[in-house]
Amino acid sequence: MERLLIRGGTPLCGEIRISGAKNAALPVMAATLLADGPTIVGNIPHLHDVTTTMELLGRLGVELTVHEGMEVEVNTATIKSLQAPYELVKTMRASILVLGPLLARFGEAEVSLPGGCAIGSRPVDIHVDGLRAMGAEIEVADGYIKGRAGRLRGAHIRMDLVSVTGTENLMMAAALAHGTTVLENAAREPEVINLATCINAMGGRVRGAGTSTLTIEGVERLYGVHHRVLPDRIETGTYLVAAAMTGGEVRLKDTAPALVAPLLDKLRDSGAEVEAGRDWVALRMRGRPRAVDLQTAPYPGFPTDMQAQFCALNAISTGAGSVTEGVFENRFMHCLEMQRMGADIRIEGATAQIRGVERLTAAPVIATDLRASASLVLAGLVAEGETRVDRIYHIDRGYECIEEKLAQLGADIQRVPD
Ligand code: EPU
Repeated sequence: MERLLIRGGTPLCGEIRISGAKNAALPVMAATLLADGPTIVGNIPHLHDVTTTMELLGRLGVELTVHEGMEVEVNTATIKSLQAPYELVKTMRASILVLGPLLARFGEAEVSLPGGCAIGSRPVDIHVDGLRAMGAEIEVADGYIKGRAGRLRGAHIRMDLVSVTGTENLMMAAALAHGTTVLENAAREPEVINLATCINAMGGRVRGAGTSTLTIEGVERLYGVHHRVLPDRIETGTYLVAAAMTGGEVRLKDTAPALVAPLLDKLRDSGAEVEAGRDWVALRMRGRPRAVDLQTAPYPGFPTDMQAQFCALNAISTGAGSVTEGVFENRFMHCLEMQRMGADIRIEGATAQIRGVERLTAAPVIATDLRASASLVLAGLVAEGETRVDRIYHIDRGYECIEEKLAQLGADIQRVPD
């Protein structure tokens, strides 16, 4: 297993490119299962979760060709299995995204139940109940969600909670159903809109993406297209926070500033100077940031996937800030690791009360989930001494070449074998 060694203290300066969004690439790759002809997906990030998705599609018998510049061509004509096995699903919960498309197009699917997860219980009832409402027969047995259906039927579904992959799964299933489906309390994330755009380009009829009510008129068949994945707003936010924490000056290109508006507001509150153009954003921070208060919520609220990084920012800021997690039950594991680096953090239920300290000190720390790992790398960038971040396979699930990008900005960071 590999680890990262980071020697803190260098302000990050320079320019880097932002990759395609993991959480847009995964649903779009699942949506390729809906199309009759080959689909080409562009701006795919080179990430572990993408490799897992390609492996999963490969297990189903799908033919995959990787073209130059991380364009992946998916041809489903050769499909021979309708099962997503445990050993793949356990490493990536988003594998559940194949359930809707497989049931809708082939009338059958078996997807392993995702196992325990380091960020609170993440059930799949919204996915299963929605598909049942569309006429699928679903049983959970032997650790698998086993579904069967004739042609799915349109239905009126109100989801109890806002679920990103729940909305995406049901949207994909409804795209090939007989009749119209209305999804109420739908997720409004940009990645959901990106998926709707892809399905519509395939010949689907999804309306209302970006609002909390989606209306999906099912069609008989969908066709292969060329679709481009949108830029990663969480990667964008993570590098902006890194620059703010280190008192640096960075410019991020190939991104979409409109998607990170709540993050830019918080960074300005913390004292950063932020400028943005159509596809770039630049940040400069002089001196230490000021601590900020925030509460995570579904889009357009503050993203839960940026909560850990802002905990790291508050940990070295002037003043005190409170960070409330409003999406997941148990997403503060990084705070315990930051305390080991000298951070002053008190967890009270769903809120972390953080009083900034002048400096953190290096320690060996363990990454427990993807965004937690990123926040520990950020803490390492400002800590005195050499921080060792273990279990970095979590980082590789969601950040393309993180040590190369940070090194390009001047950070003293290296990946070493165990
Ligand atoms: N929930 C249920 N029942 C369900 C589904 C969800 O109770 O059937 C609950 C969850 O337990 C959670 C809340 O609803 O409390 C929201 O979860 P959601 O379903 O929206 O999460 P997700 O779709 O599994 C996606 C992202 C996550 C991101 C969340 C929230 C993908 C592949 N994953 O997960 O990304 O944190 O939305 O924005 O899109 C990450 O990239 O690090 C990551 C974890």
